[in-house]
Amino acid sequence: MRRLLVTGAAGFIGSNFVHYWLGRHPDDRLVALDALTYAGNRESFEAATLQRGFRFVHGDIRDLDLVISLLTEERLDTIVHFAAESHVDRSIARPDVFLDVNIVGTHRLLQAARTVWLDPKGSPAKHRFHHVSTDEVYGDLGPDDAPFSETTPFRPNSPYAASKAAADHLVRAYHRTYGLETAISNCSNNYGPYQYPEKLIPLCVVNLLQGKDIPVYGDGKNVRDWMYVEDHCAGIERTLERGQPGRTYNLGGNCERDNLTLIGTLCKTLDEVFAGDPDLAVRYPAALAAGGRPSAHAISFVSDRPGHDRRYAVDARRAAKELGYEPTTDLSAGLRKTVHWYLENEPWWRGVMGVSYDDWVREQYPDS
Ligand code: NAD
Ligand code: TYD
Repeated sequence: MRRLLVTGAAGFIGSNFVHYWLGRHPDDRLVALDALTYAGNRESFEAATLQRGFRFVHGDIRDLDLVISLLTEERLDTIVHFAAESHVDRSIARPDVFLDVNIVGTHRLLQAARTVWLDPKGSPAKHRFHHVSTDEVYGDLGPDDAPFSETTPFRPNSPYAASKAAADHLVRAYHRTYGLETAISNCSNNYGPYQYPEKLIPLCVVNLLQGKDIPVYGDGKNVRDWMYVEDHCAGIERTLERGQPGRTYNLGGNCERDNLTLIGTLCKTLDEVFAGDPDLAVRYPAALAAGGRPSAHAISFVSDRPGHDRRYAVDARRAAKELGYEPTTDLSAGLRKTVHWYLENEPWWRGVMGVSYDDWVREQYPDS
């Protein structure tokens, strides 16, 4: 039985992880810590609040005293660290917030873990610090380059990626220097339920439903490796169970697509779902699919993102060999589930989109 602290549990992957974990480990204690930024929503883990082992704490990972008291009072033995500022475009506009949360915040968690778990006065407690990271720390690839492996040098290109790379280094240093039992997973692009509609896939879905355009950056030929979020949760579970302390594991979806191809598949999926359910045309009359027109007609090319990474691809052989881990959801099944989830959860996405990011930043960082 584990006693976990899950940071960022009200965000996209964190909330999926809470559902995943409590569904499979109902006797575990799971303390969810989240600052509830614009990207974090209580509704995303609402079902979990009914479960015996679950507790939500509204707080900040940068609050060292709070984290130390949670680890101590709750006798937690595992941290799964998702909390972060996570959107590349926002990091280009406001890098300072990303450095503060992703680097300083991760360091505070490491300090807390070291203080409680490696107390020199007691014998070291059994523990694990799992840091959830991204393939973006490795930079980007040309069309014929070999995928990123765990030994690919870090070459982050956006402030987001640079802040995650710095956090990865700190986690590694705490293992090497203090003996903290850490593991890092570097995963490719996720999609699925509860993803804030600022990232490509949910943005496309909610825009199409509202009759708005799909903004494609540049030529639309940038390549990402897509993974259904539940598969990522399974990869983290495997890493917790079988991963070696101090080791890094790449997790990939085995699903490289350029943005135009991905968007084309998503549009077709939405068109098929509308064709099979006439009520949807009544609910979403502005959608192209409501009038029987292809959703792909909503594609609109816009200016490119500065420093836009061209291609990500992940060599996940270490996770396959050492953890026995492979993702299982193929893209068409994952996109279909995702489209259905957004159709069934309109109050969720309308609610989260009501929070203004700019207001939130002004409130948190009045001087920046
Ligand atoms: P998200 O933006 O949806 O959620 C982040 C969560 O962290 C939110 O609930 C937010 O309220 C919380 N948070 C932010 N600052 C906090 C603070 N100071 N203290 C406590 N909580 C705070 O992000 P996500 O997409 O779920 O990503 C989760 C993690 O996974 C991130 O570390 C990200 O780098 C990593 N990751 C994401 C992807 C992806 O495709 N989304 C892929 C690989 C890795
Ligand atoms: P995103 O979901 O922001 O993830 P990341 O930048 O972390 O990979 O973007 C995925 C890809 O989609 C990326 O190449 C940028 C592109 N994109 C668009 O073309 N239009 C958009 O409106 C967004 C949000 C992303």
